[in-house]
Amino acid sequence: MRCVAHRRDGAPEAVRGLLEWPVVPVPRPVRPLCPRTKAIPVSESSPTPAPVIDEATIGAAVDAALAAIAAAASTDELKQVRIQHVGDASVLSSANRAIKDLPKDQKAAAGKLVGQSKGRVQKELAARQQQLAAAEEEAALAAETVDVTLPTDLRPRGASHPLTVLQDRINDFFVGIGWEIAEGPEIESEWLNFDALNADAEHPSRSMQDTLYLAPEDSGMLLRTQTSPVQIRAMLERGAPLYVACPGTVYRADEIDATHSPMFHQVEGLAIGKDLTMANLVGTLDAFAAHIFGGAPITRLRPNHFPFTEPSAEMDFRCFRCEAREGLDHDADPNCRVCGGTGWIEMGGCGMVHPNVLRAAGVDPEEYQGFAFGLGIERILMLRNGVADMRDIVEGDVRFSQHYGTEI
Ligand code: DAH
Repeated sequence: MRCVAHRRDGAPEAVRGLLEWPVVPVPRPVRPLCPRTKAIPVSESSPTPAPVIDEATIGAAVDAALAAIAAAASTDELKQVRIQHVGDASVLSSANRAIKDLPKDQKAAAGKLVGQSKGRVQKELAARQQQLAAAEEEAALAAETVDVTLPTDLRPRGASHPLTVLQDRINDFFVGIGWEIAEGPEIESEWLNFDALNADAEHPSRSMQDTLYLAPEDSGMLLRTQTSPVQIRAMLERGAPLYVACPGTVYRADEIDATHSPMFHQVEGLAIGKDLTMANLVGTLDAFAAHIFGGAPITRLRPNHFPFTEPSAEMDFRCFRCEAREGLDHDADPNCRVCGGTGWIEMGGCGMVHPNVLRAAGVDPEEYQGFAFGLGIERILMLRNGVADMRDIVEGDVRFSQHYGTEI
């Protein structure tokens, strides 16, 4: 209370009221560290008793250490044994520290006793450590062993269909020369599939023997028989000038056999520009053939008729197999499996786009001309990879796809 009076006197007027409260030290409750822990009273009056350095005590410490070492079942347990028996707080270490305080004449004997005892324990520790570590490593290796002879549950791997891979390769070629890829629907209008392509009403390809029409009869819809209608779609959508390749599925009223299928694939090429000639067509086909068949194939055109081109031609590529065997200047192999000895393989149709087709697609034939071509992708696959039967391509047997891998 004296303390309070003293402070009140010296304090400024404004805080005097606050200082009415006596400043008495409040006894703090002694809290345990955690609910179950009792606070440990620290007594300064009980110094640790000096360790006893006699043979019986040290001998007992060594025996206890050796027993614990022998009983340790793992390197982790052995670590605890080391701390307990030779660590700073152990009997042996305390004894070691106490030697310096012994009377001079006892120091040598005590030093020898403690040193030898500790050395013995350390040696046993090292030996046991080696033993336990080796056992642990052996156990780990045994646990991690993989039996490579066990049967696996690997699922068989699939493969991209060779047609898909080839189609990608074809697309790559056209994209590589700066063309675009255009697509159209497989259910197509009769107008786009025939009329806009300049096929007259009596054209034989319109017959139901060739074309699959959609019901009802006057629907005007069919399964496209060719990729050529995409020419019209592309011109209508993108205008001229135009450079597009149009890959896709087409349908015809055919039975499946070794060389025919009611569903197959074509790729159409269409270039519309201001100064295009048949020379550009042939140059493009030469480059295409080289990309697909390799080597330096030559394209040959033979006159033909298609409603949508004028002039029209059938295109042949110089047989890549005969070329590789005999060289360009030599005759074809008379027994060639690919060309049948002719030296040429028939690839499809082509020509200069008919002015009526340009007009149907809103392109002025006075300003623009262009060339077009169409190829069967199955045919390319069969020739290129020696596929003898069309049915192998459609049956979907994964072994067929795997055989050609993903790069064909
Ligand atoms: N569409 C024709 C067919 O399926 C192939 C064809 C011929 C496409 C000449 C063309 C072409 O673009 O100019 O037989």
